[in-house]
Amino acid sequence: MILPIYTYGQPVLREETILIAKDDPQIPALIDNMFETMYKADGIGLAAPQVGLSLRLIVIDANALTKTYPECKDFKRVLINPEITQQSDETVALEEGCLSFPGIHEKVPRSVNIQVEYFDRHFNKHTETLEGFNARIVQHEIDHLYGQVFIDSISPIRRQLNRGKLNNLIKGNAKCEYKIKPLKK
Ligand code: CO
Repeated sequence: MILPIYTYGQPVLREETILIAKDDPQIPALIDNMFETMYKADGIGLAAPQVGLSLRLIVIDANALTKTYPECKDFKRVLINPEITQQSDETVALEEGCLSFPGIHEKVPRSVNIQVEYFDRHFNKHTETLEGFNARIVQHEIDHLYGQVFIDSISPIRRQLNRGKLNNLIKGNAKCEYKIKPLKK
C-alpha cells in the first residue's frame, strides 16, 4: 500500500520517535508499505516519521545510486531501533534531497564513516561499519528519528535562498510527482 509522504511543516517530522518492541504486529506490513512508498517516489531512504509515525524504523535501498557511488550496490536495509555508535571526525559535504522536501537539494556535511547498530526485520541485531554514501544515507535517516531534517545543517544563507520553496511546502503548493500530505490543504 502506498502511503502519503508527510512534507516539511508537518509536526511529526519534528517529534522524537519511540523504540519498536520485538513482535510488534504492525511492523512487518509497515515495512512493506514503506518500501513500496519509497520506490514509488524514486527515493533511496524513508524514515517512519515521513509517513506520519513516530517510530524508530527506517527502510533503505540505495542500489539505484550504484553508478555514481559503487558502495551503494546491494545496500538494501531495514533498520529498527538504530543507533550510531561511532562516527569519524572527518566529514564531507555532498548534495542531498529528502522525500519530505520535494524540489530542494542542498549540500550537507556528514561523517565519512560510521558504525551503526540496529535490528533487522526479523529482530536480529547487527553492527555494521559503513562508508561513503551509505554512511551518509544512514546519518540522514537517523536524523529523522530525532526530529531533525537535512536543511537544519545548511547555512543561514542557503536556508534564506530556499525560503520561498519551504513556504510553498508548508502551504501545500509544491509540485510533486508522488502522493504527499502537506500541513495545509
Ligand atoms: Co529525509
